Formats: sequence, C-alpha cells, structure tokens
Amino acid sequence: MILGKKFGKIKQNKQKKDMEKIDLERLKELAHSEISQSKNLKELDQVFKRYLGKNGQVSLILKDLKTVSPKEKAKLGKEINEFKSFLEVEFVRKGGELRSSLVDEETGQWIDTSVPGKKVNLGHLHPLTQAKREIMMIFQGMGFNVAKGPEAETEWYNFDALNIPADHPARDMWDTFWLKSEKPRLLLRTHTSPVQVRYMEKNQPPLKIIVPDKIFRHEATDATHEAQFYQLEGLMIGEDISVANFKAILQEFLRRFFGKEILIRLRPSFFPFTEPSFEMDIGCALCDGKGCLVCKESGWIELMGAGMVHPKVLENAGLDSRKWQGFAFGVGLDRLTMMKYKINEIRLFHSGDLRFLQQF
Ligand code: FA5
Repeated sequence: MILGKKFGKIKQNKQKKDMEKIDLERLKELAHSEISQSKNLKELDQVFKRYLGKNGQVSLILKDLKTVSPKEKAKLGKEINEFKSFLEVEFVRKGGELRSSLVDEETGQWIDTSVPGKKVNLGHLHPLTQAKREIMMIFQGMGFNVAKGPEAETEWYNFDALNIPADHPARDMWDTFWLKSEKPRLLLRTHTSPVQVRYMEKNQPPLKIIVPDKIFRHEATDATHEAQFYQLEGLMIGEDISVANFKAILQEFLRRFFGKEILIRLRPSFFPFTEPSFEMDIGCALCDGKGCLVCKESGWIELMGAGMVHPKVLENAGLDSRKWQGFAFGVGLDRLTMMKYKINEIRLFHSGDLRFLQQF
C-alpha cells in the first residue's frame, strides 16, 4: 500500500529530515480517495483502521514526532492535528452517506426508503397481573409481606395440615388434579391456604402476609368459575387479633382497590381450617346490586372465604394456640378484577382475545 511504503520509511529512519519530508497534503488526497471509494461500511472501517486505528498511520506519525526539533514539532503537530480532524470529518461524512444509501449492502438490491416501516406493537401487562400488583401495593402499604408457596403441593399441606383429613367430606369442595407421585402424594394446589402453614412453620408471630398466587381446580367452567385462577390469601396472627381487625383491613383494602366505599356482608360458613368461619360478599359492582348474570340475580357476589385460624392449624404449624390467634381469608383475584373492570365473563382472561386484552 502506498501509505505503508511511505511510513515504513519514516519508521526505519527516525531522523528529523525524514519527518520533514512527510507530505501531509499528499496524504490527505490519498485518504480522501480511499474513503470516497469505500463501497460499504465494512470497507470504510478498514480504511478507518489504516488511518486512525491503534497502529494506523496517524499513530505512526505521532510516534516519530519525538525525533524532530522542538520548533518543528510545534508546526508539524498542528498540521497533524488538522489532518486528523480532516480524516474524522471525512469518515463521518462517508459513514452517513453509506448508511442512508439506497442499496442493500448484502444483497446489492435497491431499497425503497419511501415504504412505511414495520410498526412495532408494544405489549402491556395482563389485567390480572396489573390487579395483582395493585393489590400487593395496597397490602404492603398496610404492613403485609408477600409470601409464596409451590403450585405442585403435597397432600399434607393442601389438606391434612389444614385440618382436612383424607376421609373428610370437605375434600369434595376442592376437587383437584393429582400428579403421578407417591411419596409424597402431590397435587395441583386447590387454594393458597397451604402457604399459611408453610409460612408459620418458618416465621414467628406476630405476622401479616398475603399470598397472591395461582391455583387449580377440577371444575366445570362458567361465567364466574375457571379451572385455573388466582387467589389472594391473607393471614394475620398476633396475641389479640380479632374479626374486628379483619373487617377493618378488608374494608380499607376494598376502598383503596375500588376507589370508593364498597358494601360488604359477612355470612356464617364452614371451613375446616377456620373457626368461626364466614363468607364475605360485596355488593355487585356490575349491576349496582340490581341483579345480573354475574351475581346470579342476587345483587351480591361471593368474594371470599375467611375466619379465625383454627387452633389445630396453628398447632400443625408448630405455634402455641393458647398464645397466638388471628384471621385468614382467601379471595378470588380474578373475581376482584372482574368487579373492578366490570367484566362479566371470567373465561375472557385466558381466552387470548386481543380485543379484550387491549382494553386494559
Ligand atoms: C377457599 O379456597 C379457602 N381456602 C378460602 C379461605 C382462606 C377460607 C382462608 C378461610 C380462610 P373457596 O373455595 O370458597 O375457599 O374459594 C375462595 C374464593 O375463591 C371464592 O370466594 C371465590 O372468590 C374464588 N373462587 C372459588 N372458586 C373459583 C373458581 N372456580 N373460579 C374463580 N374463582 C373462584
């Protein structure tokens, strides 16, 4: 290469007079022609390395500058800097030109830059995820921790530890999918309540947790029932926690979640793991209590099961039931979301229908 020859000579002979021989004007012309003739960005990059790279021509000249007299050094230094600036401008100019070139570098085909570009569709969080995050924020604001447990649960935690032995008819309420496993017998958990026991085993009261997680049931689906849905479990244990605490916390949660006062009612109920037990209903937000498909014309919608944690459950988790007491609740997160956004069909959540999802 022409430049190589010229600067090879400079490298070999580090004499002042050789440095003075450098014809920067000639070099400029050569660089300009090499830059201009680059057919693509790859070629331009090679030229760049030859001139401005670590061992490029400019570096070589600068190294040899040490050998010239101080007076000449100042003059030559200025000229070399000008040369460098010239090169930089040339590379930017050519780079820009090549980037906006109408010819595809790889295929050599003409590119029609007037064709509209491909639109990138940005996704967003699923409405259930949005609701789950909002719920977590509200409870965390009231001092609750978020706990987790396995979706494939043991029979012990899903049933026995919650005071539901194998022959108890209550098991019928939670028909589920069993996994092919023997020791231990595993199933897809039917509720988030097993996390109560798992958490109490590892953490000493006083404690306040929520478990917003996925659960599974062998269920014939309809407008308000899914086979896979989310529950929000709540557990608060202390020395003097009562139903009054439950009502106050839930009323406050609903007020913050729905952004308005929500009518609630408690009905006596039965759960083997709470005593006393109750169901909490809220006034149907879809029909404002007038009666619709979702509330089955009753004006109320069953939202959650709740109660004071059964002493046996506390004992199963290794806690002294004479010292500790508290409440627990389990609410359908999907149903809460339906109420909030006035959705009248639970199955829409997992339908993958974009017309539905894009509304959130
Ligand atoms: C339970 O699952 C209990 N573990 C709740 C509980 C926790 C009681 C702690 C006491 C103490 P239940 O099966 O009723 O209870 O379900 C709780 C809530 O989940 C229901 O009120 C409802 O909001 C929701 N839910 C129940 N089944 C379905 C379903 N198939 N599809 C959607 N949501 C459902």
